[in-house]
Amino acid sequence: MLTLEDTSREELREVMDLAAACQSGGLDQLLGGKTVCLAFFESSTRTSASFELAARRAGADVVSLGEKDSSISKGESLVDTIVTLDSLGADAIVLRHPAAGAARLAARHTSAAVINAGDGCGQHPTQALLDLYALGGALGGFEELAGRRVAVVGDVLHSRVARSVIPAFRTAGMEVALVAPATLLPLECGAWRVPVLASVDEALDWGAEVLYALRLQKERMAGGSPRIPSVAEYAAYCGVSRRHLDSGALLMHPGPVNRGVEVSGDVVLDGRSLIPAQVAAGIAVRTAVLALATGAVHEVAA
Ligand code: NCD
Repeated sequence: MLTLEDTSREELREVMDLAAACQSGGLDQLLGGKTVCLAFFESSTRTSASFELAARRAGADVVSLGEKDSSISKGESLVDTIVTLDSLGADAIVLRHPAAGAARLAARHTSAAVINAGDGCGQHPTQALLDLYALGGALGGFEELAGRRVAVVGDVLHSRVARSVIPAFRTAGMEVALVAPATLLPLECGAWRVPVLASVDEALDWGAEVLYALRLQKERMAGGSPRIPSVAEYAAYCGVSRRHLDSGALLMHPGPVNRGVEVSGDVVLDGRSLIPAQVAAGIAVRTAVLALATGAVHEVAA
């Protein structure tokens, strides 16, 4: 599970259906006998906690490694770390790493399933899957996503979430627009053939029913260059506030939120915000992903 770029609609539906089955509790011990290694070499709250809960609750043996408490801090390479986890019998390696391409590199050095839990500015496929699941939950199911309009708002340039969620939304049949200053758009976004709008207000005029806000990722801005004139100006055009939700739009954000920047503080936990539902969806969706990636789901079916 490195990217969703080549994933079909049927494959997305399979993950959604399995996640729903996991959530309803019908698949106890789905990962019994499997060994899941969590290798998080970059900060994480939601993703690491929900992968760990997903794996443990489904009965897997779980090993957690971080940058500071692993031999990475002694200079061991990523490849040697992956080979070590492979030798210990990992069935799945969940990898978060600051370098784009790290998960693809890891997958070349192990027969375990490698699940990309975020690689630099690359991809974050399980985030996009849980977003589809949470949005489907709010709108009445996966099939209800088709034909809806979603605006992806903010720092697209540095966002691995955007690079996964945009293809996922489109494969689910949604129409996508971007809202961002030109300095926060990647050069390749011309090839995505999506409208680029200047503000959240314009996105609502375009018909957006869902506003998917991205974090302003200052830690990824090369050389500390801010790429925006000021945070206040960014928030004026790209910030989601109460008046936007009053139009009936739903709010999504992968977290962590910079309150008052991407989203005004008073709407983060508003009734039209799916942010808590997105986090909650992580457990069922990541259980499903681990079961599919390790083959556990087929073993149970047999
Ligand atoms: C994202 C990440 O780390 O890629 N958060 C997450 O996994 N929920 C988004 C971000 O850091 O902006």
